[in-house]
Amino acid sequence: MKKIWWKENVIYQIYPRSFNDSNADGIGDLRGIIEKLDYIKDLGVDIIWLGPSFKSPNDDNGYDISDYYDIMDEFGTMADFDELLEGLHSRGIKLLMDLVVNHTSDEHNWFEESRKSKDNPYRDYYCWKPPAADGGPPNNWISFFAGSAWEFDELTGEYYLHLFTKKQPDLNWENPKVREEVYKLMRFWLDKGIDGFRMDVIPLISKRLDFADGEVSNFTNLIANTYSNGPRVHEFIHEMHQEVLQHYDIMTVGEGPGITKEIGNLYVGESRKELSMIFHLDHMFMDYGDKGKFYPKPITLPNIKKIFNEWDEATGEDGWVSIFLDNHDFARIVSRFGNDKEYRKTSAKMLSILLLTLRGTPCIYQGSELGMTNVNFDSIEDYRDVETLNLYEEAKANGEDMEAFMKAIHEKGRDNVRTPMHWDDSENAGFTKGTPWIKLNPNYPEINVEEALADSNSIFYFYKKMLAFRKEHSTFVYGKYKDLDPSHEKIYAYRRSDENKTFVVVLNFSSETVDFKLPEYYGGLELCISNYDIIDNGDLENIKVMPWEGRIYLKK
Ligand code: NOJ
Repeated sequence: MKKIWWKENVIYQIYPRSFNDSNADGIGDLRGIIEKLDYIKDLGVDIIWLGPSFKSPNDDNGYDISDYYDIMDEFGTMADFDELLEGLHSRGIKLLMDLVVNHTSDEHNWFEESRKSKDNPYRDYYCWKPPAADGGPPNNWISFFAGSAWEFDELTGEYYLHLFTKKQPDLNWENPKVREEVYKLMRFWLDKGIDGFRMDVIPLISKRLDFADGEVSNFTNLIANTYSNGPRVHEFIHEMHQEVLQHYDIMTVGEGPGITKEIGNLYVGESRKELSMIFHLDHMFMDYGDKGKFYPKPITLPNIKKIFNEWDEATGEDGWVSIFLDNHDFARIVSRFGNDKEYRKTSAKMLSILLLTLRGTPCIYQGSELGMTNVNFDSIEDYRDVETLNLYEEAKANGEDMEAFMKAIHEKGRDNVRTPMHWDDSENAGFTKGTPWIKLNPNYPEINVEEALADSNSIFYFYKKMLAFRKEHSTFVYGKYKDLDPSHEKIYAYRRSDENKTFVVVLNFSSETVDFKLPEYYGGLELCISNYDIIDNGDLENIKVMPWEGRIYLKK
């Protein structure tokens, strides 16, 4: 397998709006991040993925860009950006920016021009269609964020496509001028010295030009078969590689809604010359009901393992993925996969073992290193996320059971991960001296950076230890992965091995003590890492794995 820095590094995702506010306007900003660079360095990560920071009216918190060449007013100035980049590089940390080019804001000058007339030079920058025979939208496509994916524009009597909100019109990648504009803006940022891009919904850029109806009764299928992996997607990404990416020593990670394991390597196979890696979303979408994320189905540990196992096998020696267990769009890692009540600390530590020892480039979301949890706001008024609010309104209009819907928001809503970072136990957790743009999680007096740094047994120090441990053992980067007991309902046990070393990882995904018979290597294992102080390391043929315990053994 090819050895390269971006397989060895670990990413830390910053959602700037919620990280640290330096100017008391209630919104996190770039200078706020600059103030915390030593904290990030101390944790031991290598790369920052900075959420979208370009000019934006913030209908979708920056994922709606109105100017790709400037910084969002709330986040600061280009000078602040340059200082941030310099501050990261001087600490040996790289920077990825969020490339959002499936769509722009409707306030982008291209769209403002485009909507003016059918013969405007920018008309073809977007996807315009005449109404269907009945005057309705051109097809049955629905937006990720509720309602039709088409918006009628009175001025020219046509509909434009928006797979996200109506303020996020989809670009028309068929138009070579659009592609040129994208390559140009990419060069602008790369020439400033950034180290790569996280590419927002990149498999969505090539549209199916017959615009045929899709299977709207199952949202996951609709994404995979109708919105994602369009006929020219590989041609476009390959062209981007030829025109831009290959000329820089950088990495790219594509967000992969709709990319299945069968076709993953078409995006990331080495010979393809497309992307360095993708975030596949199977373990994030696995509990979506037919109508999407707010109609969740239960998940089991064997389901989760199956996804990781199949992806690992499918990418093999040729492709590469990023491993993540939460980000700014999904529930908190410890609330979703662990036990955020009586075993919060223990399960958060155990999950860090999983995150940092599967095969792929790990991506840690801000606050996971503190064990931050989901937030359960009682009232919909306290939510800010456009997806949550739109889908709530839609459900209400449909007369659905709103108590169940609110429960689903508590479990799955994006604001769970967007409440401000907890720095200390002072007012607003030290995040802002003003009024925060979204309420804080009320548990910040117990869960915060100050507390974590003062406790040598904290989740923070466990992450730090795990990050250093991973760095020491390249087996966790390049070594093979093998699930040792795929059907076990409570234990996730796997082996990572290369020509030099073999490690065995045993993780308990339950709040019970489990007697686990190790399938291999009885007697010949040395314990390297555990999230329990005192553990029974006696009988390896029958280990008592404590609730949410995680262990790493080295084969002797
Ligand atoms: C995926 C991003 O992660 C999400 O936050 C955003 O709302 C959509 N893409 C649209 O850009």
